[in-house]
Amino acid sequence: ESTQVAIIGGGPSGLLLSQLLHKAGIDTIVLERQTRDYVLGRIRAGVLETGFVELLRKSGAGARMDREGEIHHGFHIAHQGRLDRIDLARHAQGQTVMVYGQTEVTRDLYEARDAMGGRVLHEVQDVVLHDLKGAQPHVTFIHDGAERRINASFIVGADGFHGVSRKSIPADILREYEKVYPFGWLGILSETAPAAPELIYARHDRGFALCSMRNSRLSRYYIQVPLSDKAEDWSDDAFWQELKRRLPEAVAEQMETGPSIEKSIAPLRSFVAEPMRYGALFLAGDAAHIVPPTGAKGLNLAASDIHYLYEGFADYFLRGEAGGLDSYSAKALARVWKAERFSWWMTSLLHRFPDMSPADLRLQQADLDYLFSSEAAQTSLAENYVGLPY
Ligand code: FAD
Ligand code: DHB
Repeated sequence: ESTQVAIIGGGPSGLLLSQLLHKAGIDTIVLERQTRDYVLGRIRAGVLETGFVELLRKSGAGARMDREGEIHHGFHIAHQGRLDRIDLARHAQGQTVMVYGQTEVTRDLYEARDAMGGRVLHEVQDVVLHDLKGAQPHVTFIHDGAERRINASFIVGADGFHGVSRKSIPADILREYEKVYPFGWLGILSETAPAAPELIYARHDRGFALCSMRNSRLSRYYIQVPLSDKAEDWSDDAFWQELKRRLPEAVAEQMETGPSIEKSIAPLRSFVAEPMRYGALFLAGDAAHIVPPTGAKGLNLAASDIHYLYEGFADYFLRGEAGGLDSYSAKALARVWKAERFSWWMTSLLHRFPDMSPADLRLQQADLDYLFSSEAAQTSLAENYVGLPY
């Protein structure tokens, strides 16, 4: 069996690329380790940049997002009992973000793949990449109990942080940069009205909190917790109580609470792997980089990789030009590092680090005071939050 581009991983990165390439007449096969239901059960990102929104539309899977997603013109930062607003549209030349969950994006992409007859294999095991620098790159794996081999001109590693693709690059070539943060985010999903019409990021002496949403009847909340905490040890009541303590009183008082329908802890990490290409292999999305979630950049950063990769493959297969693929790693990494910087900065601005000295706390406060006293600082935050240009 053979294809032009073998894609490892059926998360948003792999599906979006497969869908875009298929529309351009380029053949792909997607190999996913989990079942479709498992992939759709993971609750992750909720805020989409304009670049992502446009790419999803271009892939032909954007109709439901355009009907059901919510455009947000700004968000709030709660600090020192105040609730200050970042006006995205005003500071980022009219640009906005779309609130629409990663779960829904993934569902729409699966449906679009089905409708086009795209090949997506689920529950594949023991994926191994071969001959990445040689004449016949290929992938072997087990599917339905049988060993299979797919030859491909190129292989895309879109298999997330724990995938096999990045590990297939020799250690003397791969450089990995990592920063692990001394806390995690405990998140819940609940069928309640959002606390406010726009997101609220809260800095509090007890730790960070975030009020987000999926739609008018589905809320998503996060609180910073020690890495030693377990989600099972947090009752819903304990969660709501701690969340409210970290929010301005006016918000906490009128907030609707209810049972959680999902509860999990995510660790926070900054991670970049360089280069993002090795021979026939191209890394994309979480396979190559992780940001701490504070700036809502994880999924959006996957989208810019897919954009560059799609352009590179289109140049190669449709116009016979290899330049786009040759410059992929450098182009993608330039944007990746800027998103890493922004996510690190926003995390540092809003979290309570266990080892903060009184001086660190005053500097953090000054960072926030400066932000809301300076149009330039708000512009900088806004242009990063809506997404830097591709
Ligand atoms: P993934 O979504 O990880 O998809 C990779 C796919 O590859 C998976 O389906 C996996 O099953 C499959 N796979 C792995 N190994 C193999 C293998 N060996 N063979 C075949 N298939 C394989 N971002 C935000 O912006 N906001 C958030 O709130 C947020 N919360 C997050 C919470 C968690 C717990 C995690 C892990 C991430 C979160 N992110 C968040 C980041 C965002 O979800 C990711 O950036 C996004 O999912 C990246 O998409 P991806 O397709 O590159 O990787
Ligand atoms: C969500 C997650 C984020 O990390 C963020 O910055 C904003 C929203 C969310 O899951 O809704």
